[in-house]
Amino acid sequence: MLTIGVDIGGTKVAAGVVDDDGEIVEHTLRPTAADRPEVVAETVADVVRELAKGRQVEAVGVGAAGFVDETRSMVRFAPNLAWREEPLQKKISGLVGLPVVIENDANAMAWGETRFGAGRGQSHVVCITLGTGIGGGLVFDGALYRGRWGMGAELGHMQVLPGGRPCGCGNIGCWEQYASGQALVKEARQIAEAEPERAGILLGMAGGKIEGEEVTEAARQGDEASLAAFRNLADWLGQGMADLAAVLDPGCFIVGGGVSRAADLFIDRARETFAERLTGHGHRPLAEVKLAELGAAAGVVGAADLARRR
Ligand code: BGC
Ligand code: NA
Ligand code: ZN
Repeated sequence: MLTIGVDIGGTKVAAGVVDDDGEIVEHTLRPTAADRPEVVAETVADVVRELAKGRQVEAVGVGAAGFVDETRSMVRFAPNLAWREEPLQKKISGLVGLPVVIENDANAMAWGETRFGAGRGQSHVVCITLGTGIGGGLVFDGALYRGRWGMGAELGHMQVLPGGRPCGCGNIGCWEQYASGQALVKEARQIAEAEPERAGILLGMAGGKIEGEEVTEAARQGDEASLAAFRNLADWLGQGMADLAAVLDPGCFIVGGGVSRAADLFIDRARETFAERLTGHGHRPLAEVKLAELGAAAGVVGAADLARRR
């Protein structure tokens, strides 16, 4: 059976036709204005039509970066996008005439990684995606945990610092303000501003424009401010995993998302912090901290598989 998986990101829609084994048969990519829901539904419909041409496709799964309701049809709220009470399922299925399942983007990735990637064979998986925000996905005993109203596993919005940075969700001090890609950039900019003498490489390279790629590249070249920003991210990540393990006792964490492409700059330290801060450490097994294996395809493959099982 073939289904289509779609991953709606901040700047692009990635989609693929996926078979029962989680293999992508064909895929495509379109730029989109994710802040304009009208356009997004049409872009998704476009890619679905393109991919379904000449094929028997059964259903469409869509991963979206927000709070999806329990019927998997509406994006009720999105901290980093303009979506509010957005009936995405209705719009897309109306345009393509196929069954459509909407799922939180990080849930779809967690599902994809657990079925076909780094979490294969694991019974208790916590997936953490580090991108613009922090996404979370929990897969226990082969089932995706969605909570009572579909909005479970919003790991990025646990408060880690009272009085901390304002978050797109309206609260302050959320985890995603300290351990995401956006956080990395904020941190590096702050350090560079306060102590420019430590940020010579970063400031020289960016010509004033500091984004994630510059921070990563500067860190690789030994820029002190950028390295400090990565160390801080590693510590926030490690502490967050320790807190999650206190509640959930997973067998493994899977760390993915765009920032994980620079994992060599933070993952070892995150593992150390996790091991040190874990409550009861020394008297309990330590969950593995793995890197995602499917990369950008995880969301597409996961959403397609969830659509297959709808
Ligand atoms: C949103 C989540 C989303 C994550 C990653 C967070 O800000 O609240 O719904 O999964 O970002 O995109
Ligand atoms: Na989630
Ligand atoms: Zn928040």
